Amino acid sequence: TTSLDALQGLLEKLGLEDPIPTFAGSDVLSRPLDIFHSYLADILVKITDCEPQVAYDAIQWATDMNNGDLAVVVPRLRVKTTDNKELTRDLAEKFPHSTLFSLPLADGIHLRIFFLSKSLPKVLLPYIHDRKETYGIDSTSGHRDPASPDAGAGRKKVVVEFSSPNIGAKFEGAHLRSTLIGSYIASMHEAHGWDVVRLNYLGDWGKQIGLLAAGWKRFGSDELLAADPLRHLYDVYRQIDELFRPEEEARDKLRDEKKDTTAIESQGLYAERDGFFKKMEDGDADALALWAKFRDVSIASYKNLYASMDITFDEYAGESQVNRDIIAEVEATLREKGFLEETSDGSSLIDYKKHGHRGLSTAILRGRTGSTTYLLRDIAAAVERDRTYAFDKMVYVVKAEQESHFQRIFAALEMMGLTTLRLKLEHVSFAKCLDLGDDVALLSDMIATAQSAARIVIESDPDNYAAFPATIDGDPTTVADRFGIAALQVQEMLVRRNNNTHFSADRMVSLEVSSGARLQYWYARLATVLQGATPDIQDLDYTLLVESEDYTNLLRVMTQFPDIVQGAFRTMEATGLLAYLFRIVDQISIVLEDEEDEDEAGGASSSVGARLALLEAVRLVLRNGMRVLGVEPVLV
Ligand code: ARG
Repeated sequence: TTSLDALQGLLEKLGLEDPIPTFAGSDVLSRPLDIFHSYLADILVKITDCEPQVAYDAIQWATDMNNGDLAVVVPRLRVKTTDNKELTRDLAEKFPHSTLFSLPLADGIHLRIFFLSKSLPKVLLPYIHDRKETYGIDSTSGHRDPASPDAGAGRKKVVVEFSSPNIGAKFEGAHLRSTLIGSYIASMHEAHGWDVVRLNYLGDWGKQIGLLAAGWKRFGSDELLAADPLRHLYDVYRQIDELFRPEEEARDKLRDEKKDTTAIESQGLYAERDGFFKKMEDGDADALALWAKFRDVSIASYKNLYASMDITFDEYAGESQVNRDIIAEVEATLREKGFLEETSDGSSLIDYKKHGHRGLSTAILRGRTGSTTYLLRDIAAAVERDRTYAFDKMVYVVKAEQESHFQRIFAALEMMGLTTLRLKLEHVSFAKCLDLGDDVALLSDMIATAQSAARIVIESDPDNYAAFPATIDGDPTTVADRFGIAALQVQEMLVRRNNNTHFSADRMVSLEVSSGARLQYWYARLATVLQGATPDIQDLDYTLLVESEDYTNLLRVMTQFPDIVQGAFRTMEATGLLAYLFRIVDQISIVLEDEEDEDEAGGASSSVGARLALLEAVRLVLRNGMRVLGVEPVLV
């Protein structure tokens, strides 16, 4: 069914003699829903005499299965009438007997259409089995159009910048969210045939490194650093930060009173911090050696942690790595075009308001001492990455609090005349991660919390996992670890990015609610039932499937998969796709438990093949969905 002829042949066998009608926006070879959609439009044309494309566009797909599979919004047919409800009833009566649809329901101005359960498996199961890992995923959507003159061949490239923790500091809830969201955005693009560059932009430059160095002098230990690098650096930072706080408060007080703060800032830890950072910026060998030590051990640790989450970064970039010549180039261009101002105290800035960006205030590019700022480094980094990667798109996965920072970057690029670059950039923002708890300060804490919660759930009910091969092989930790990672991922993907998340170890591993553990568990149960069997789908007896509402509902849901994936990709929101996968999981849990009961009662049936074909199709849909989202299953 992967060619139009073959698909046509299949439909002919069902008794559909007319060729599949074609419409703008329809893609029957990728989306089975469009087959139904197209034939329905054709029927509408026959019974109302309306324009074919108008009929096609008047049809929606139903998200609530109780309301059918498709709906015709009757007024959109633009049939002359004084009463659309009357017309709807009229159309319901005129609706012919059909191979694909049962008789429709008139519901106000909506004509509700249900797929005929007898035909559904005959269309959908061959369709899914012919496509396997490509069902629902347009793996060529990331390919350049070879016909377009400027494009050249090959794949489109996206740079996804995510995670980006700060050296020595806490791994915040925001970093966790960025890691998980960035990872699924990268996976989605990869599944769709894009070239993906995963980039981690470490906070490894700036005054906070100066403060960390001041802390290292007082509290640092090479032994402790070797034992647990991220924890020790964080301990050192916390201690020095505590010593620093009184100075900071004194300065803030003066600033609030609009008094001169230079006296405070030129002594104590202020001076030590800023002095060290100045040395870094001036290329002082000792300062840079210490900085490199912090950076190297941090990257080594993070690499392992990310690997346990199935994440590999292509580049550990960072604020320190931004090319100095490009920074100078950015400043020169902005100065030349009259956007960069130098102030009397030696700093330089952009006054965004003055240049028509009313929502943005003044922003410093270089401070008094000549040090670059976060903003200047970021502007230059965008230019540099554009040259390095020649990307088609770059996505920054960063918390919503930095919204105006990114607006400043984008506005600066526009001021520089780099509009094409600016248009390739997107800030994907997200709200807060709440309830992390005080003792969860590092990424390793977050992972450990999820994994040990998963271990407790699994160990409390070993019988349930007896069939999981990883357990049989004598290594139960791998199952629990994988459950834990999926638990973190799913907790994140259940909500829209702009909603807050709540970190809850219990919830994320519960098998009773939509959780990563539940997704893993039922996927593995299904895979265990199938045991790698690839059922032959020729000449199956579908009676059992047709008679069971549970099976039919699974088929109805599975028809929507490609459309759901498309929505997830377009919006870069995982919520809808994940909720969809849980509709399938919920249904498959019912089916598998029922079957187990039947098996125990000794029930055998002639529809074994059909049942296996269906279960394998469900497995493929779940597997493809998980792949798009970047969730690695316990069992393949
Ligand atoms: N390190 C920053 C932080 O923790 C996030 C970096 C975001 N990315 C960027 N290009 N500015 O807040």
